[in-house]
Amino acid sequence: MMEKFSSTKVLDQIVNKTALAIEEGKKEIFGISESVRRENATLESELVMTKAKLSIIISDVDKLEIRTQMAKNMIKTINEHFDEFGEKDIREAYELSESVQLLLSSKRHEERELVEKRNTLERMLRNNNEMLKKAEVLEMKVSVALEYLTGNVVEQIKEKKDIGLKIIEAQEQEKKRISRDIHDGPAQSLANVIYKAEYASKVIDHAPGKAKKEIYDLQEDVRNILNDIRRIIYDLMPMSLDDLGLVPTVKKLAMNINDSYKVKVHLNTVQESVVEDSLVNLMAFRVIQESLNNIVKHSKSKTATIDLQILDDFLKVDIWDEGKGFNVEEIEHNPSGYGLYNMKERVEIVNGDISIESSPKKGTHIKLRIPNQ
Ligand SMILES: Nc1ncnc2c1ncn2[C@@H]1O[C@H](COP(=O)(O)OP(=O)(O)OP(=O)(O)O)[C@@H](O)[C@H]1O
Ligand SMILES: [Mg+2]
Repeated sequence: MMEKFSSTKVLDQIVNKTALAIEEGKKEIFGISESVRRENATLESELVMTKAKLSIIISDVDKLEIRTQMAKNMIKTINEHFDEFGEKDIREAYELSESVQLLLSSKRHEERELVEKRNTLERMLRNNNEMLKKAEVLEMKVSVALEYLTGNVVEQIKEKKDIGLKIIEAQEQEKKRISRDIHDGPAQSLANVIYKAEYASKVIDHAPGKAKKEIYDLQEDVRNILNDIRRIIYDLMPMSLDDLGLVPTVKKLAMNINDSYKVKVHLNTVQESVVEDSLVNLMAFRVIQESLNNIVKHSKSKTATIDLQILDDFLKVDIWDEGKGFNVEEIEHNPSGYGLYNMKERVEIVNGDISIESSPKKGTHIKLRIPNQ
């Protein structure tokens, strides 16, 4: 029990720690994405400005190229008709051409710088957007991992592990119960048989009448022991369950109890379907068996009633007595045996539901529902 709790606790701790680390990672990724998004907003507005400036410069350059060309043409004309122009005109034409060319080269320089800036901004934005895409994919993966860790999937895995542990635990308790049954029943009775046989052999010579009576008693004792052993074997695994099915096996159990104890068992059955899953059969049988054991052992009821319905979708079992009843909560907090606990564990294994209703002096009612698929 301790082993189970500690390993489940360790597993929980590992899951929690991993989930926390992933949550931290998720926050960091989100932080990085946010700062990249902010940087992108700045880059984008800078790019818009740069492109606007660039288009103005480009049109300036275009205009200046035309003016430069015009200035060149003018100089060419002056050179061709040198005689027709005065010195002043010639100087002014050269000065104009020079200043236009200077302006053009400075504007071209500005254009080159702006083109470079635009290209750099565009490259940065492309890189950032690629990073954002990666971060988004990573965020999604991390969210899925987190969901996986904290959500149903892990719960289901853990549940499976828990059920495995419960099966082992139930088996251990079953072994304890069998050894207790053998110890309290046939083992003690056999010790008594040995004692009686020794006594008979001692008195056989001088009191043959007494010895005869002892031997007669012995026969009766051995017959009872044989019955006890048969019951224990039957309890271990009712042979008919797999061969005949649930209803005939429960009928046989009810007959055994009617023959052996003072309790009268009434069995009502409705069989509209069959139970395919042998585990469902076994679990249902065990619950009925333990409920009847408890009625015989504890209830002081004269009757026990079983309603057993095998339907298409559900297996429904109701078992009740009219005995002294008990305080369910109290017994659950402070169990005196394994019977009720085992019932619940078994029912959980086959995804069923069990309720135990009882109160002192009002009898006990066990309701069992197991999906029949
Ligand atoms: N039908 C019943 N009528 C009255 N009391 C009951 C009934 N069923 C259970 N109880 C009470 O609940 C207690 C717990 O039952 P449970 O089957 O868990 O253990 P047990 O029968 O004492 O031991 P075990 O089943 O391990 O042999 C019983 O000791 C008894 O006091
Ligand atoms: Mg019991």
